[in-house]
Amino acid sequence: RAKVTIPYLMDKKAKHEQISMMTCYDYPMALLQEQAGIDIILCGDSLGMTVYGYDGTLPVTMDMMVVHSAAVKRGAPTAFVIGDMPFLSYQVSPQEAVRNAGRLMQEANVDCIKLEGGTVMAETVKCIVNAGIPVMGHLGLTPQSTSALGGFKAQGRSAEAAYRIIEDAALLEAVGACSILLEAIPPEVAKIITAKSKVPVISIGAGIHCDGQLLIVHDMLGFFDRFVPKFVKKYANVNGVILAALNQYKDEVEKGVFPAKEHCYGMPAEEISKLSD
Ligand code: KIV
Ligand code: NA
Repeated sequence: RAKVTIPYLMDKKAKHEQISMMTCYDYPMALLQEQAGIDIILCGDSLGMTVYGYDGTLPVTMDMMVVHSAAVKRGAPTAFVIGDMPFLSYQVSPQEAVRNAGRLMQEANVDCIKLEGGTVMAETVKCIVNAGIPVMGHLGLTPQSTSALGGFKAQGRSAEAAYRIIEDAALLEAVGACSILLEAIPPEVAKIITAKSKVPVISIGAGIHCDGQLLIVHDMLGFFDRFVPKFVKKYANVNGVILAALNQYKDEVEKGVFPAKEHCYGMPAEEISKLSD
């Protein structure tokens, strides 16, 4: 397929064709997502939880995001690859934000960056966009603010809170964001934002009225045998498949069934006969 670009995504919104988006953190998964034709691939700082085993995203660093985003990009050359800005890489000052966003473009070759926050990040988004770097905004449940939000909780559930998110989305678009991600808000709120917005609005737990959908790949594949958020649909149970293979391998090693002859390298008989014990 042709490279997925911002004009292509804008065109999909105009034609009311839904955009598919998925998180991805490494090369093998990127190859599969590229093959499946996923439009947008997000190397999210959720890798702190899905790949590194932290209980949140705050420990994730720029160096981690650069290394993982670059691996994803190598596996998915035609997808629109977005690198996520980790905690403290953009909050300190717009100048630091531009430098760190630039690192993701320069060192990981991503097509776009993503950061969390609305009104408070408007100036920062403007500076990054002015540097020629596309920005996706992220509103609603913003995991880097989990402590301030009082936990991983749905947002925008009162009319007052909803209007704040609607205003934030309008402002992000006004300062040049090329797309907006809405996480864990009611569909009614996401519907208003999507209708008002000229740029594609993507949902993760924000209902059916958006221009596209995102899921965390480890959640939708059923990689973990544990709690997933309400908005997750499990499309597979990879956990069971991998566990069955590991159990069988351990069993066959212990019983001496693996390796069999077909897994071993041959040697001419006359050469074997020259071997002394
Ligand atoms: O890091 C991530 O995967 C994200 C999504 C949860 C929206 O930001
Ligand atoms: Na994130």
